Amino acid sequence: MTFPPDFLWGTATSAYQVEGGNANSDWWAWEEAGHTLNGDRSRAACDWWANAERDLDLAAELGTNAHRLSLEWSRIEPEPSVFDPEALARYRAILEGCHARGLEPMVTLHHFSNPLWLAEKGDFNSDVVVDYFRRYTAKVVGELGDLIPTWVPINEPVTYSVMRYLIGAFPHQRHTGLGALMEGLHNLLRCHAAAYHTIKAAYPAAQVGTADNLQIFEARPDGTALDRWWAGRVSRFYNDAWPDALHTGRFHGLAGSRRMKDIAGTFDFNGINYYTRFYVRFPPRAGFVEREWGPEALVSDGDYGEVYPYGLYRVIDRVWKRYGKPIYITENGVPDAADRLRPGFLLDHLRQVWQAISFCYPIMGYYHWSLLDNFEWERGWSQRFGLIALDPETQERTWRPSAHLYREICRSYTLTDDMAARYAPEMLPIMWPGAEPGLSSEP
Ligand code: FCB
Repeated sequence: MTFPPDFLWGTATSAYQVEGGNANSDWWAWEEAGHTLNGDRSRAACDWWANAERDLDLAAELGTNAHRLSLEWSRIEPEPSVFDPEALARYRAILEGCHARGLEPMVTLHHFSNPLWLAEKGDFNSDVVVDYFRRYTAKVVGELGDLIPTWVPINEPVTYSVMRYLIGAFPHQRHTGLGALMEGLHNLLRCHAAAYHTIKAAYPAAQVGTADNLQIFEARPDGTALDRWWAGRVSRFYNDAWPDALHTGRFHGLAGSRRMKDIAGTFDFNGINYYTRFYVRFPPRAGFVEREWGPEALVSDGDYGEVYPYGLYRVIDRVWKRYGKPIYITENGVPDAADRLRPGFLLDHLRQVWQAISFCYPIMGYYHWSLLDNFEWERGWSQRFGLIALDPETQERTWRPSAHLYREICRSYTLTDDMAARYAPEMLPIMWPGAEPGLSSEP
C-alpha cells in the first residue's frame, strides 16, 4: 500500500505536555491544587524547554518529515502585554531546529493551556480574550511567521470546552455548565477567526486550519431508536458544531443559531484528531459515553477506548463531504505502555488513510500522537502514547517496536505484509487476506 511522494509523515506534541516548568500556565496551578490522577505533576515533562533538540533528532531518525508542535502562550506573554524576547528566541531555535532536520512544522497557538493572568481575567468567558489572542497571534506572526507554513489557532475547542465546563477535569474558573460552555465556544470561535485573519494578512500563502477531536458516537447494535437519535445529536454537537460554524459563519448556541462576523470560511484545511469510537445510550447514565465493550474489542490502557480503525475512514469521509477541504490527520494514537496494540493500530489506521487517498480524498499528512510519552493532562503520567517510551524521572528514552515500524513506513512510504509479519502478525489476515508474508513486498 503505497502513499504519495509528497505525503507528510509526522508526529505531534503540545508545548505544555513536553516542555516542563510551565509555571505561568493555569495547568501548573491546577496540578498544584491536586486535580490530576495520583497527584501527578508535569515537572520537567520531556525537558523540551532545555533540550527539544534531543527529540527532534529522534523525529528525524524516525524518518518523519513533519512535526506538529504548539507554543505556550504563558511563556511568550508571561504578563498581560509583556512579551518575553527570550521565549520567542527559544521558539525560533526550536522551529529552525525542525527545518534543519527536514521536519516541516505545523504550529498550534493554543493547546489547552492559558496564561494564569488570562485565566484570572475569565479567559474564554470574558470579552477581553479576543483582543489578547489577536495580539499574541500578531506577535508570533511577526517574530516567527517566516518559519511556519501551517497553523492551527486552537486545538480541539469542543473537547477542551467539554473537559472544562461539563466534566470539570481541565482548569476552569467559576464558570461551569452549558451556558458557560456555549459562551466559551463563541469566544473561541472569535479567537480562531481573529488569528486566521492576522496570519493571512501577513502570510497569504500560509495554511491555517483546525485540529478537531472527531470521534464516532453511535448506539450499540442492539440499541433503541432513542439511542440512535441521541447518538446523532451528540455527534452533531461534538463533531460538527465547530467546523460547521467556521464553514457557514453561523454558530448554533443554546438560544438558536446566530451569524458571526468574519468567520465564514476561516479555514484552509480540516485537521482530524481521531482516537476511538464511543457508544452512547439515551437517557445517558453516568457520564456521556458508555465504558463497556464487547468481548472482541481491543481496549487500550486505562479503559481509554476501543481500537476502531475504520472510524478514521468514517470521519475522513464525513469531513470531506461536509467541507471539501484538504485534510490532515493532526493526531492519532493509543495509550499502550507495553506496545501490545500500537503496531497493529498504526498499520490499520494508516491503511484507512491509504484507502481514503486511493479513493481520491485529499489527505495531505499524518501526525502520530505522540513522538514520545508525555504529560497526559488530568491523567498525568498514567497513559503512555509515545512511539518512544520516556522515563520522566531519568529522562531515559527507549524505542518501542512501533517506533521501528513507523520508521520503516515513513522511509518507504508503504505498508507491507512483510512489516505486518514482523511487527503485528495478527494484522496479516485482516489487511492482506491470503498473502504469504514477504511476497508482495519483494521488488
Ligand atoms: C488529544 C489532545 C492531546 C492528547 C491526546 C491523547 O485530545 O489534543 O493533547 O492529550 O488527546
